[in-house]
Formats: sequence, C-alpha cells, structure tokens
Amino acid sequence: MTKLFINSTDPELAKRMKPEVYQKILEKREALKKMLAEKLANTDTITLEVGCGHGHFLTAYGEAFQDETCIGIDVNRGRIYKALRKADRAKLGNVWFYDCDSMEFLALLPKHVRIAKTWILYPDPWPKKRHFKNRIVQTDFLSQLADKAAEASQLFLRSDYEPYLEWTQELIDESNRWQLEEDVIWPEVAVTVFQELTKNKHYSLAAVLNPAK
Ligand SMILES: C[S@@+](CC[C@H](N)C(=O)[O-])C[C@H]1O[C@@H](n2cnc3c(N)ncnc32)[C@H](O)[C@@H]1O
Repeated sequence: MTKLFINSTDPELAKRMKPEVYQKILEKREALKKMLAEKLANTDTITLEVGCGHGHFLTAYGEAFQDETCIGIDVNRGRIYKALRKADRAKLGNVWFYDCDSMEFLALLPKHVRIAKTWILYPDPWPKKRHFKNRIVQTDFLSQLADKAAEASQLFLRSDYEPYLEWTQELIDESNRWQLEEDVIWPEVAVTVFQELTKNKHYSLAAVLNPAK
C-alpha cells in the first residue's frame, strides 16, 4: 500500500489502479502539498522525524528546542492522530505531524525549505531479506534526503536491532552524500513507545551531510 502511494504518480502504476483510487491519491497529495506550502511559507529549515509513531520524542524535543520547527511524519494515521493530540495538549506552536510516507514527504516539501536534522527512532526492522525493501533507510531515501538537506544537516538513527544499524552504515558508506559522525551527544528528551517496549535497548548512529557533494 505504501509503495503504491509513494509511486502514485508513476504512470505505469497508475495504469494498474482503479481510476477512482488514483484520483483519491492525487487529491490527498495535492492537499498535503498545499498544507505544507502554507505552514512553511515563512520557514527556511525544519527538524524532521520519520516514523514518529505516537509523537513522544518530537513533542518533548520541540518543547526543549522551541526555536526549531519540528515535523513528524508516519504512514500510520492512528498514531499521527495521537501525536497531534499530544502536541496540542503541550500547546506547542512549533511541532506538527502529518500522516504520509517518507519519500512522499520529501517530494512534496516546498523547495525553499531545507532539513537541518532528521530523526529515525526504532524503525520497523524488517529482518527478512525479502522485506529489506520496506525499510525506511534506502539508497534513494538517503539521496533524496540529501537533496533537501541544509548545510551540515544531520541524520540520527536509533534502533534496538543492531543489523539495522549495520545496514544503514553500509548504505551511508556507499553513498557519497553522507558521512558517519562520531561522539554525537544524543538529546535524551523522551522515551518512545518502541524504546519502552524494547526496555530501552538501543544502538545509535549519527551522520552528517557530506560538504563536498
Ligand atoms: C516501530 S515504529 C516506531 C515508532 C516510534 N518512532 C517509536 O520509537 O515508538 C515504526 C514507525 O515507522 C512508521 N513508518 C514505516 N515506514 C514509514 C515510511 N516509509 N514513512 C513514514 N513512516 C513510516 C510506521 O508506521 C511506524 O509507526
């Protein structure tokens, strides 16, 4: 479903869809594009969380760093609904959440907006090889993110599943757009739902946009 949504403007995929389904997808994308353009009309840089789930991290982060415009995205609408309620209760004007896919978000982000920081916390591990394609971190993702990144943009990833870290490290090493960073201090502002479920087991990684590219 997600893939269909990401590639929904791909004419080949569109041909295989019912016209009314395709139409709905286009309408949703248009609405999201408009919403982002309006919200971010006067914003140059954002902090992004991909797969934000219930919004625990970004709400606490946005409260701690009120000068940053924080956007959380997740394909799970129910989780986004909860995240929105959380930000609303905290009365934060700098934290927003949208139900959309990572690649779609990058495609629809207004051109003048640059991403200063990206957080990916406890992404679905998809341990089976045939499911690797479902992981958030992919070569294309890293490259599209780099295209939208601000100077010295940082990417942070945390997972309880060490092979996901290794996978990301490999893709970063292969990519000439990002480079790994050592000794980054992690802002421990909140425990996420999946962090709690895994009893705070974690491996963390940080990367910075390669200035040479
Ligand atoms: C294991 S949960 C972790 C949620 C939260 N970060 C936490 O630590 O509690 C992974 C989340 O990533 C979301 N997700 C998976 N693929 C995504 C994508 N391509 N774009 C946006 N969100 C995605 C899922 O819907 C899910 O909510």
